[in-house]
Amino acid sequence: MQKVKIVKMTSDDVDEVFHIEELIHPNHHWSKNSFYNELGNKLASYWCVKNEEDKILAFIGVWQIFEEAHITTLGTHPDFRRCQLAQILMIKAIEECYNNMIKYITLEVRESNLPAINLYKKFLFESIGVRKNYYQDNSENAIIMFTQNIWYDTFKNNFNKIKDEIKKVSVSYDC
Ligand SMILES: CC(C)(COP(=O)(O)OP(=O)(O)OC[C@H]1O[C@@H](n2cnc3c(N)ncnc32)[C@H](O)[C@@H]1OP(=O)(O)O)[C@@H](O)C(=O)NCCC(=O)NCCS
Repeated sequence: MQKVKIVKMTSDDVDEVFHIEELIHPNHHWSKNSFYNELGNKLASYWCVKNEEDKILAFIGVWQIFEEAHITTLGTHPDFRRCQLAQILMIKAIEECYNNMIKYITLEVRESNLPAINLYKKFLFESIGVRKNYYQDNSENAIIMFTQNIWYDTFKNNFNKIKDEIKKVSVSYDC
């Protein structure tokens, strides 16, 4: 069992993140330039989960604009799924939202993407609408998901419960 750490993504990480992105989305992935541009975007924050050998296992990106945050990307390397890595990145992103006085978090997700939809529902994101034919590669609809105000007790209590559960089990990618 190895420990993982969450670190800010830097331009040195882009090649590795891009490799994971290609594995995850062979036909419709971000370009390397998209990641480089995002790392220069003052409104954006990108983090990676790395193991003890500094291998990148998962990553997330968030824009923060006034009182709203938008999750732009989230991915876990296919070999390291169901090890709670996406959850610990969501926790990191939401903690940052609290630090920056964000009130609402939103994102778009493919309507067929049940793993991701389940993950977001676990954090009490709710579907508030559909963008028809949003994805260019296959014209799939996007579900727009939003949190309630993250300072409300319902959201906070659920968030703290997830954090407590994660603390009880050591995060391992060897699962
Ligand atoms: C969605 C994704 C990021 C989840 O990553 P992960 O590190 O495997 O997720 P975790 O182990 O942290 O799981 C967290 C929760 O997500 C949900 N989930 C994850 N994988 C799931 C699956 N295969 N089936 C159903 N629910 C799933 C569950 O609610 C899970 O909580 P639980 O363990 O209590 O059941 C990963 O499957 C992935 O990279 N998918 C491709 C990229 C993608 O879809 N990104 C999101 C774009 S909006």
